[in-house]
Amino acid sequence: MKATAKAHSNMALIKYWGKRDKALMLPCNSSFSMTVDALYTITTVEFKTDLQNDVLILNEQEADEKARLKVSRFLDLVREAANSTLHATVTTKNFFPTGAGLASSASGFAALAAAAAEALDLKMGNRSLSQLARRGSGSACRSIDGGFVEWQMGIKADGSDSYAVPIAPANHWDLTMLITTITNEHKNISSRDGMQRTVETSPFYKGWLESIDDDLTQAKKAVVEKDFDSLGQVAERNALKMHATMLSSNPPFLYWQEGTISVMRHVQELRESGIPAYFTIDAGANVVVLCERKNAEQIQQSLIKVQGVQEVIVTGPGPGVSIL
Ligand code: PMV
Repeated sequence: MKATAKAHSNMALIKYWGKRDKALMLPCNSSFSMTVDALYTITTVEFKTDLQNDVLILNEQEADEKARLKVSRFLDLVREAANSTLHATVTTKNFFPTGAGLASSASGFAALAAAAAEALDLKMGNRSLSQLARRGSGSACRSIDGGFVEWQMGIKADGSDSYAVPIAPANHWDLTMLITTITNEHKNISSRDGMQRTVETSPFYKGWLESIDDDLTQAKKAVVEKDFDSLGQVAERNALKMHATMLSSNPPFLYWQEGTISVMRHVQELRESGIPAYFTIDAGANVVVLCERKNAEQIQQSLIKVQGVQEVIVTGPGPGVSIL
């Protein structure tokens, strides 16, 4: 009744933005990501007969009630599948570089899903684990597999066809991401609330949905063919398009800070000077710079000097979830 799992985070190349079902965490569009080597979570779940409630220890401290309830509701899904009423102690640690303010929900819920399912001896393959992890945080469904992963949105109302599938393994291509954290990040709107507002109010959201298939097709083809420029171009375009839907929401909102824009301009200058690099941005101020491995160190050194940059983490593709 005890198991430990390790899961890596992922960075979207084609973004998930908008839910069609909030309870089941079903997306309005398919998305595509790279599981990253440098950021991961290790989680131990132990079901016990003498607990009245679930207990959550997060980074060596008892978590607040909001976080505990989120995990507890997630464990209800696992208990239901295993026909169990036992409560659990969940001990989880994020192995993320110092104070970078990076989101850990993808690796966190992927590790929790795998550890909890294993602890209750549910024999789940990656597809079922992906569906389970999705219920914790949408993007977590893409962290079950390693390398390059597509979350297929599915069309069924019960979500049984909405899960992630591997497109290429981690060793297929050493595409490099420079996770560039920006100082003074304070996110005033969660991705959950931000995407909801966008779906409900942005007149551009329709255009976002209409163009996803083309972006996804180009991105997957570029990864399979290891075509760096094609992937970089579509990833950058897709991220800016997502942020344009936020700017056109009512009321509008913007995650960027001064440092965000400085990094975007810097990437453009790198390109103009003949060094291939592109960027993508999630629902926050941080920028992820895409480059080829051979240029990673040079670009890292130049990024660290850009005004507003806090830290630059270099990472390649990482593995899928594993039971330790
Ligand atoms: O799964 P969530 O609720 O953390 O949403 C993720 C949204 C983006 O990071 C902006 C895009 C993505 O596909 O990861």
